[in-house]
Amino acid sequence: MNAQLIADDYQISSTAKALSRVDIVLIGARGKVGTAFRQQLASAQQRLRESIGLDISLLAAYDRHGFAFSLTGLSPDTIQDDFSERTHHDTQTLLQHLLTRKNLPAIVIDCTASDEIADLYPSLLAGGVAVVTANKRANSRSQNFYDNLQNLAQKNNTPYRYETTVGAAIPIIGPIQDLKWRGEKIQSVQGVLSGSLSYILYRLHQGIDFSEAVLEARELGYTEPDPFEDLSAEDLARKLLVLAREAGFSIEAADIDVRPLLSKPTHNEALETTLKIHDAPWRARIEAAEARNERWIVLAETSADTSSIGLQRVPLTSPFARLRPGQNLVRITTERQEQIPLELCGAGAGPEITAAGVLSDVILAARQLAP
Ligand SMILES: NC(=O)c1ccc[n+]([C@@H]2O[C@H](COP(=O)([O-])OP(=O)(O)OC[C@H]3O[C@@H](n4cnc5c(N)ncnc54)[C@H](OP(=O)(O)O)[C@@H]3O)[C@@H](O)[C@H]2O)c1
Repeated sequence: MNAQLIADDYQISSTAKALSRVDIVLIGARGKVGTAFRQQLASAQQRLRESIGLDISLLAAYDRHGFAFSLTGLSPDTIQDDFSERTHHDTQTLLQHLLTRKNLPAIVIDCTASDEIADLYPSLLAGGVAVVTANKRANSRSQNFYDNLQNLAQKNNTPYRYETTVGAAIPIIGPIQDLKWRGEKIQSVQGVLSGSLSYILYRLHQGIDFSEAVLEARELGYTEPDPFEDLSAEDLARKLLVLAREAGFSIEAADIDVRPLLSKPTHNEALETTLKIHDAPWRARIEAAEARNERWIVLAETSADTSSIGLQRVPLTSPFARLRPGQNLVRITTERQEQIPLELCGAGAGPEITAAGVLSDVILAARQLAP
């Protein structure tokens, strides 16, 4: 792919458009969230053109193996036919093109869980290319890296949106930003934020064994392929870092007191054998909780002084105890909302709902960028 050719061709095709056109590049295009996003975009494109004059055009899409590109816009739902084998040269040329073209708004959408893609954000934002991401990797690095991304976005007036990195499509990041902008001091944020752990605990309270609950959650696709990623609360810690920083608490990963359900085993035992050791202790814990009309939850909490993730028993009357599997609940306490904290609740995972949240972020970013 030749950069000059792209630039010349693009100028010719863009002059013919009367709508406000915003080009998007989708990374992770054939993953679960990427696929759902393409399908939702396909059914939204015409509506957005007619209702708000916004022409969101899929300029390029790629994953680790394939690459697709079209100056006139790829058809999001039939993209499979357009993929060719990806070369490093293709993606480099594309990103260089995005950074060098002038006054042509573009958004890069990250639907991967890759550090390599998170590495691109600083140069994209510095170059005026918006970033929409479902990937927690960037915002859960050091506080410095997070602050730098925020500064770059602000200084260059470039949208940087990541609502789906916590709680899928539940609006959490946006409301926290609103609270800060209107000067409402956030005291604490706490929540049940892991769909996989909630599911496992829900099934334990229904009476099945710990090993069975974990293997079932993996079978249903609720956990990572290695369930210890979930049981060790690594992913949850990334979510809490994002929330804490959004709330204005300066924090590093090492500051979080993580009490995992299970630590990653150091030896290479079969998964089921390792899990089965915990069946009897868990049966006893569940019985003890039920006898006291309580339920186990994994609560993530952060305030200016302390941040933690761990198992807790809560009364059955607690809103955290009444959540259905897959449901997330975040409670935000502020100086003005101390007695009755703000609660945000909804489906906290799943490719369809996450993709819907990504599409909302893309529309908001595109409206900010559109000429
Ligand atoms: N699934 C959910 O319910 C959910 C909810 C909230 C947030 N998220 C977040 O959304 C992101 C995507 O999740 P997912 O469930 O869709 O994962 P997934 O099905 O594993 O898809 C990941 C995609 O990223 C691509 N990819 C990985 N590394 C890449 C790289 N270096 N360069 C280009 N492409 C790369 C993969 O390509 P290959 O297939 O070629 O490897 C694949 O297309 C993750 O950050 C996840 O934490 C997911």
